[in-house]
Amino acid sequence: MAIRKIRLEGDPVLGKKCRPVEVMTDKLHVLIGDMLDTMYEHNGVGLAAPQVGILKRIVVVDVGDGPIVMVNPQILESEGEEIMDEGCLSVPGMAGQVPRPAYVKVKALDEDMEEVELEATELLARAFCHEIDHLEGKMYTSLVQGGLHPVEYEDE
Ligand code: NI
Repeated sequence: MAIRKIRLEGDPVLGKKCRPVEVMTDKLHVLIGDMLDTMYEHNGVGLAAPQVGILKRIVVVDVGDGPIVMVNPQILESEGEEIMDEGCLSVPGMAGQVPRPAYVKVKALDEDMEEVELEATELLARAFCHEIDHLEGKMYTSLVQGGLHPVEYEDE
């Protein structure tokens, strides 16, 4: 288990577009394990590779139903809109209202580079969109309506 250092907003790496993963390697398996450890350590529901300084299209998500690993994820369909508070481990202690699709269908590769299609609503749809945005160098703070506000973190 290894906890990696989370890059904070303002770090140039968070504004960069990530490269697709062509081949799964032992090193990337270690990265994925570390990303999950890092996300759970900070009670996050998602983490994208650029948040630990790696410009690869890999995200991990867990909204309470178990870990989901997505390599090279793509949103195929989206529907509806929900506006809810959203936060990010790269912007600790803050949240803001962000509109996101109520439903998304995502195509990705799993950790074994097998193609998967996932459908998501509510928090899971939000987490997918948020993490996929990270791969484009896009932070949720650019989508916030009405400004950021502090939140109480249940971090420890
Ligand atoms: Ni984030």
